[in-house]
Amino acid sequence: MAGGGFTNGGGGGEFEAKITPIVIISCIMAATGGLMFGYDVGVSGGVTSMPPFLKKFFPSVYRKTVLEKGLDSNYCKYDNQGLQLFTSSLYLAGLTSTFFASYTTRRLGRRLTMLIAGFFFIGGVVFNAAAQDLAMLIVGRLLLGCGVGFANQAVPVFLSEIAPSRIRGALNILFQLNVTIGILFANLVNYGTNKIKGGWGWRLSLGLAGIPAVLLTLGALFVVDTPNSLIERGRLEEGKAVLKKIRGTDNVEPEFLELVEASRVAQEVKHPFRNLIKRRNRPQIVISIALQIFQQFTGINAIMFYAPVLFNTLGFKNDASLYSAVITGAVNVLSTIVSIYSVDKVGRRMLLLEAGVQMFLSQVVIAILLGIKVTDHSNDLSKGFAILVVVMVCIFVSAFAWSWGPLGWLIPSETFPLETRSAGQSVTVCVNLLFTFVIAQAFLSMLCHFKFGIFLFFSGWVLIMSIFVVFLMPETKNIPIEEMTERVWKQHWFWKRFIDDEYAYDEKVANVSNGYDPASRL
Ligand code: BGC
Repeated sequence: MAGGGFTNGGGGGEFEAKITPIVIISCIMAATGGLMFGYDVGVSGGVTSMPPFLKKFFPSVYRKTVLEKGLDSNYCKYDNQGLQLFTSSLYLAGLTSTFFASYTTRRLGRRLTMLIAGFFFIGGVVFNAAAQDLAMLIVGRLLLGCGVGFANQAVPVFLSEIAPSRIRGALNILFQLNVTIGILFANLVNYGTNKIKGGWGWRLSLGLAGIPAVLLTLGALFVVDTPNSLIERGRLEEGKAVLKKIRGTDNVEPEFLELVEASRVAQEVKHPFRNLIKRRNRPQIVISIALQIFQQFTGINAIMFYAPVLFNTLGFKNDASLYSAVITGAVNVLSTIVSIYSVDKVGRRMLLLEAGVQMFLSQVVIAILLGIKVTDHSNDLSKGFAILVVVMVCIFVSAFAWSWGPLGWLIPSETFPLETRSAGQSVTVCVNLLFTFVIAQAFLSMLCHFKFGIFLFFSGWVLIMSIFVVFLMPETKNIPIEEMTERVWKQHWFWKRFIDDEYAYDEKVANVSNGYDPASRL
């Protein structure tokens, strides 16, 4: 627990908690924030491969891909900064807004932050679907990005806090499950709208994002805020009442005391971001940043954003490209369910390590296949080869979907103590979106220069991240969220050196200097 005092509250084990309908419903509603994020991730690849969209907004790409087919190298035909900016601007706005979101998550609560996200999303959808020129398109993407910044800040924290610890992993992964459903939904929509003759299919694709946007907004109106957040904002009685309701028992005193204590420590922090860089917070912040960089350098978004474009590059026809993207999208959803089932049983480390092997091998095979078959100007990827590439991409996507995808969001949201949770989550989201932006902005150019070698580049990263997990990633399964410091970081062979003494010292100084008695808050 963060700071002693009520360590026995959890009895070193779990608190009494039933799996109540209100917890499940709240989580399902909150997780629709993931749906929106996923839809935005998935929709851009599809619309940017639709000729009418290119013709209207990116005429030079249109010329290269449709009119002058075959003149440019296969690997380079989509290499256009403007086009990449359409995809990437969302992430730029997202990473900036996350710092505001950190403030609102802490001061206004998780629920209101989700509501703000919903409003941004609705605004973004309106601009995008009605876009008359590139400027409107980009403004829409920027608003959506703000929505992502706020939603990805609040939703994972909300889920981790409201869940009983024994199913925290599974409930938190509902966020990622929604991300994958959002991507799949976008892929399916693109597949359908591409067939619309009038050339306005892309508008429908962008406009249908309104569905998840409205769902999140309604969800945020209905859910209750987490007890952690209520207590953090001084609403102790309300926090306790909510705790009783969500845990389905009146015996919540031990957990309540632990939350009050965590909140007391959090109150003493006047500068959350400055606090974050203190030595004792080093383990969580390093792990969170590393997780985000690694998650993006698996290369997943090269596939998620640009699958249709990539398959087009490999010589698939437009329809086949979108169709293949639907297949990878479906694999993504199903494999996420595997992780919901197993994360609280086999644990986080096991999933990450198994997936590391699977991702490494599949990427190397993809690189070899493309290296042999896709030369700069050929268009002769035979059917057999094409199917093999899609199968390999699916093997890669499935491994990501039960490991780095969900765990990249789960682990940071559950390892920070309350005092740094909002700030920590905001750095997490920011780094995630920064590197998502880097991939979105650079992938098509990288593909143009590295060609098939791009997959070797990503596989090298997979190797590095797996080694990182072996040595530096502790297991967090089944540990109550406010006990991570004691039971995870202080026990870890490497990370414990950052926590031990300074923590005890700081605590003593804080208590002596303000003569504070935690029980006085009750
Ligand atoms: C990542 C996204 C990615 C998605 C794919 C998420 O966890 O943060 O960048 O597009 O997984 O399913």
